[in-house]
Amino acid sequence: MKSTRPLTILFSVAALALTLAGCERPPMEVEQNGFRGTGMQQVNNPRIEASLAAKNQVPAALDPPAPGGPAASAVYKNVQVLGGLSVNEFNRLMVAMTLWVAPQQGCAFCHNVQNFADDSLYTKVVARKMVQMTQNVNSKWTTHVGATGVTCYTCHRGNNLPEKRWFTEPDAKMAGRLLGNDAGQNKAGKESVGNSSLPYDPFTPFLLESKEIRVAGTTALPTGNRQSIKQAEWTHGLMMHMSNSLGVNCTYCHNTRAMADWEQSPPQRVTAWHGIRMVRELNNEYIVPLTSIQPADHLGPTGDIAKVNCATCHQGVNKPLYGVSMLSSHPELAGPKTLQAALKKQ
Ligand code: HEC
Ligand code: HEC
Ligand code: HEC
Ligand code: HEC
Repeated sequence: MKSTRPLTILFSVAALALTLAGCERPPMEVEQNGFRGTGMQQVNNPRIEASLAAKNQVPAALDPPAPGGPAASAVYKNVQVLGGLSVNEFNRLMVAMTLWVAPQQGCAFCHNVQNFADDSLYTKVVARKMVQMTQNVNSKWTTHVGATGVTCYTCHRGNNLPEKRWFTEPDAKMAGRLLGNDAGQNKAGKESVGNSSLPYDPFTPFLLESKEIRVAGTTALPTGNRQSIKQAEWTHGLMMHMSNSLGVNCTYCHNTRAMADWEQSPPQRVTAWHGIRMVRELNNEYIVPLTSIQPADHLGPTGDIAKVNCATCHQGVNKPLYGVSMLSSHPELAGPKTLQAALKKQ
């Protein structure tokens, strides 16, 4: 008997170590963000925060453009979107876009440098659409991005393609079985849903299509509620993505005693509601139409283009780049309206 005790202890220690391997090491920081007693708290790991802080620094702004100068449209041949800027503003934006999206390749990433007006590189055509998309976010979606706004850097961070982007998962149908499309439910976890066993492509139904996210019944008996468990889990998958992308708990947007109730939810939930609609629009109106000009190796397993989700901008923090505005030093990206004003001044 005696001789087995150390073994038992060893086994217990090993089992404990295995059990805790999935946990984050304490101490944690806890911050209250709702009524006392409702468990509305943010739990942050100070060790993860340090690496997030390093990733979310804003690069130094370029010097402001020299005032005056002719309109870009008067000097250049093929400026379909930015023609209203002065030549100085225009050239400064070209330099900024290079630093934000193609610091390694330089101007040649988007341009035939023998002829800058040439549109033969697909990257230039994509970039033009991206300028319009960025202006659209900053002018139309202030319900989400406020006055902070976004620039190319919010998503690209010096990379040709944003690090966080998504493709539709190939059909999760279980071939030859009667159960049909399980949407990846009850499979070993994927990062998209925080390594849980929830349906792992919540993006196609909710951030590309406009499937119903609300699942909770509003009556005691389920008479009026036609939502299935699968739909509820799908919603949960999206919520896992939203929490992960922002580095927050569910209680950042919900009072968990009444998930569905807007009256009891913090205001951030309303911002998130607008965010969902914004992302749908960016994907459908700006990104998907670029599919046909993409090189084949940029497409996903179902032939779709890389798309935006919450992580594309947020990258682990509740406000991208901790809410520091880069837009303020690039008003030309604030929206077509600013361009109109710039045009009138000429
Ligand atoms: C990420 C892509 C991208 C990069 C990098 C880039 N440009 Fe551009 N450039 C564009 C787009 C898009 C347009 C067209 C804008 C429009 O239609 O209003 C353009 C237009 C121009 C034009 C106008 C040409 C004409 O006659 O119509 C010039 C000049 C120019 N860029 C210079 C530069 C220089 C110099 C660099 C490097 C410092 C650079 N660009 C880097 C995307 C890019
Ligand atoms: C909301 C996030 C977001 C913003 C803001 C954004 N982009 Fe993009 N960009 C993407 C996504 C997602 C892709 C991938 C789609 C694709 O393959 O074209 C992409 C692709 C590109 C590509 C193609 C790169 C390649 O290797 O094929 C270029 C060029 C580009 N963006 C330029 C820009 C410029 C310039 C700006 C700012 C005016 C900008 N983007 C702003 C999300 C964004
Ligand atoms: C960043 C804010 C945010 C976070 C974090 C968040 N949610 Fe949500 N949640 C929302 C919004 C917004 C909606 C409504 C979406 C819509 O109607 O388009 C919603 C809807 C829901 C619903 C459906 C309610 C109904 O009316 O049927 C449930 C359930 C839910 N969330 C659970 C969760 C869980 C569980 C978590 C944590 C894993 C979570 N949420 C994290 C913002 C958030
Ligand atoms: C195009 C970039 C972009 C995308 C994509 C994006 N956001 Fe945001 N979001 C922002 C910016 C910028 C802010 C900061 C606004 C401010 O400073 O007031 C923000 C703020 C928020 C806030 C408020 C945070 C706070 O502490 O007040 C929530 C919640 C939020 N986003 C949720 C989401 C969700 C959920 C998604 C995906 C459905 C999403 N966002 C997608 C850019 C984005």
